[in-house]
Amino acid sequence: MSGRKEVRTAVIPAAGFGTRFLPASKAVPKEMIPLVDKPVIQYVVEEAVSAGLRRIAIVVSEGKEAIKAHFRPSPALEERLEKTGKNDLLREIRALSAMAEITFIPQKELKGLGDAVLQAEEFVGGEPFAVLLGDTVLRSTCGKSVAGQLKEVYEKTFSSVVASEHVPREKIGRYGIIGGCPVPGEEKILEVTDLVEKPSPGEAPSDLAVASRYLFTPGIFDELRKTPPGKGGEIQLTDAMKGLLKKEKMFARIIDGKRYDIGNKEGFVKSTLEFAFAREEMHEDLKKFLLALLAEENGTR
Ligand code: UTP
Repeated sequence: MSGRKEVRTAVIPAAGFGTRFLPASKAVPKEMIPLVDKPVIQYVVEEAVSAGLRRIAIVVSEGKEAIKAHFRPSPALEERLEKTGKNDLLREIRALSAMAEITFIPQKELKGLGDAVLQAEEFVGGEPFAVLLGDTVLRSTCGKSVAGQLKEVYEKTFSSVVASEHVPREKIGRYGIIGGCPVPGEEKILEVTDLVEKPSPGEAPSDLAVASRYLFTPGIFDELRKTPPGKGGEIQLTDAMKGLLKKEKMFARIIDGKRYDIGNKEGFVKSTLEFAFAREEMHEDLKKFLLALLAEENGTR
């Protein structure tokens, strides 16, 4: 237990190579790939801020300069927007660099997600903190961000909490899967009893996958320091979480929200379509375009 401290810190790992999105991610960090007109990492920072997590560390590696530039003030651009009377854009661009206190932490060797989180230990400073993966957008369906939903569980349990969602059986092998017991009186909270990384459907304790957001007590750092490289030679966050589970209680929150993983090409294309479709100014045009595309396909087959 970390004591009953307020959660105000978020760590956003964004250092990975992004091999599933090559060649696009060779020079452009995959976290900077936009959904319509906003890079994924901006949605992630906005989620943290909306949960009251304004002390933010983004873990980056060489070649991720664009992420830093995105959140840095840009006086020349602001001056141009001001002169040309583009006031809405000016407000948006200024808000971007004022939205949070962002610190960039280097991950020198890309030794996995667990190692990326470990780089933030000093910054976190012995407090409970959230981890939000920098390549995944979680859109809330209940008015409270997913990071906020985890924080709410932490404030009741003072224990680590992991976001989770039901996944179809054929996709179970792609995720960390949670085994758990119901918490009396709580429909959406489980006490975690087991975590299995990418199990076969037969071995999986449930269909509940870990969903890219976590809230940890600082006890996770002791575990991360002890965790040897696992699958793919990387320090796996799941392995450290298993260690923590032996010492502390851990809960899972079945999220009210939808996950958009843009770390892979198919996820990116589907998410882009869905986000564009949800924009009022694009909806009708896009609908006509998609229907025409389908009609063309049907006519030619
Ligand atoms: P992924 O496993 O999806 O990222 O990690 P990756 O390694 O970049 O992707 P692939 O598998 O090669 O395509 C989820 C998040 O963790 C970060 C990534 O940047 C991503 O936002 N990450 C991953 C790090 O910060 N450091 C690492 O060593 C690995």
